[in-house]
Amino acid sequence: MTYPSTTLVTPPTELKPNGFGPSTQAVHGGRRANPYRAVTEPIVQTATYTFANTAAVCAYKDAYLMGDAGGIIEYGRYGNPTVAAAEARLAALEGADDALLYASGMAAITSVILSMLPTGAHIVLTDDCYRRTREFSLKFLKRLGIGCSIVPMGDYQALEDAIRPETRLLISESPTNPYLRVLDMERFTDIAHRHKIKTMVDATFATPLNIQPLAWGVDLVVHSASKYLAGHNDLLAGVVAGEAGLIASLRGPLGVLGAIADPNNANLLLRGVKTLALRVEHQNQSGMKIAQFLEAHPKIEQVWYPGLASHPDYATAIQQMKGFGGVVSFTVRGGLEATSHLIDRLQIPQIATSLGGTESLVIQPALMTYYEYSPEERASMGIRDNLVRLALGIEDAQDLITDLAQALAVVS
Ligand SMILES: Cc1ncc(COP(=O)(O)O)c(C=O)c1O
Repeated sequence: MTYPSTTLVTPPTELKPNGFGPSTQAVHGGRRANPYRAVTEPIVQTATYTFANTAAVCAYKDAYLMGDAGGIIEYGRYGNPTVAAAEARLAALEGADDALLYASGMAAITSVILSMLPTGAHIVLTDDCYRRTREFSLKFLKRLGIGCSIVPMGDYQALEDAIRPETRLLISESPTNPYLRVLDMERFTDIAHRHKIKTMVDATFATPLNIQPLAWGVDLVVHSASKYLAGHNDLLAGVVAGEAGLIASLRGPLGVLGAIADPNNANLLLRGVKTLALRVEHQNQSGMKIAQFLEAHPKIEQVWYPGLASHPDYATAIQQMKGFGGVVSFTVRGGLEATSHLIDRLQIPQIATSLGGTESLVIQPALMTYYEYSPEERASMGIRDNLVRLALGIEDAQDLITDLAQALAVVS
């Protein structure tokens, strides 16, 4: 049989999966043809790019100065095809025009803030957030003459009252770290729009599967891609996604600040994110089962999980989120030591900071994250001695429950 010759030479086609579901986006989002007809995205491991001759250099420079380099990249800090493929995939998952990949979640957060704010500007940040974000916003920005007000999560009056004429950005996590407070996106964006201020939400704990902040009118969504997006506890990366013009305004500064993602990490991220929908669906289900188990246990004082009716933001969570994720925080009936004993007896979750990977991880925030703070300082930040943050992997929920039950049995 003779086939038309074009069938043999046609490269894999570009796919624009608009309207497809999250699992399809996680596998195909931003798919483009590649010169090798490879099903997977090629890893372009290069620091720099050649030009055929000097005329090509000048043509590129002219095009660049006109604002459209036609996809030509000059140097590795200004772009990389593997990184671009990961950006396209993550943008598709967020329902965003475009995305930028960074070396870590903190690189994304700090670079975006540094790129957007002039000296004299001011930001408002909700509390119960990742402590390095708080540290950067309070200490580093102060040195640059940028002010920061921290307001209690869930107090929208305090958020609005903190706005000043020079306020440029409202920032919140959702769900927050470690109490899983859920931002009411409608109220948050309503305040910002009335005051003509940009918004950024760190949705690391939610993933685009559980909420897409851009669909609620948020300007920029940021993730530590080191967590659920990569999903295997094997890399650090960060991403910011949003409207094309806003992301374009951040791309130039990224080439100056240099907090770029590495092509090998981008490849691992592209591989890891393919199973995002499967993993998050599993983690949503395990999270709910384990939160319910813990809430019913006599040795547990309190559980924070947005899918529980007892959570302060339950009403917002069930209205705005599709699932509640794989992080469950709880306090043990007992003090610092009793809580450490519980953690030490767990067999499956490993003692390690981070979340969103295939392996379950557990920490006592008072000792892991806030060790250098005094008990009074910890208390002022709401960090209880008997608090445990359990970040579920993809193990069987029943095995994790059995493990928790045996560890709790010896807590006194
Ligand atoms: C909510 C949140 N945002 C940002 C970060 C920082 O991300 P990375 O560790 O990738 O720099 C973390 C890290 O734990 C986090 O939990």
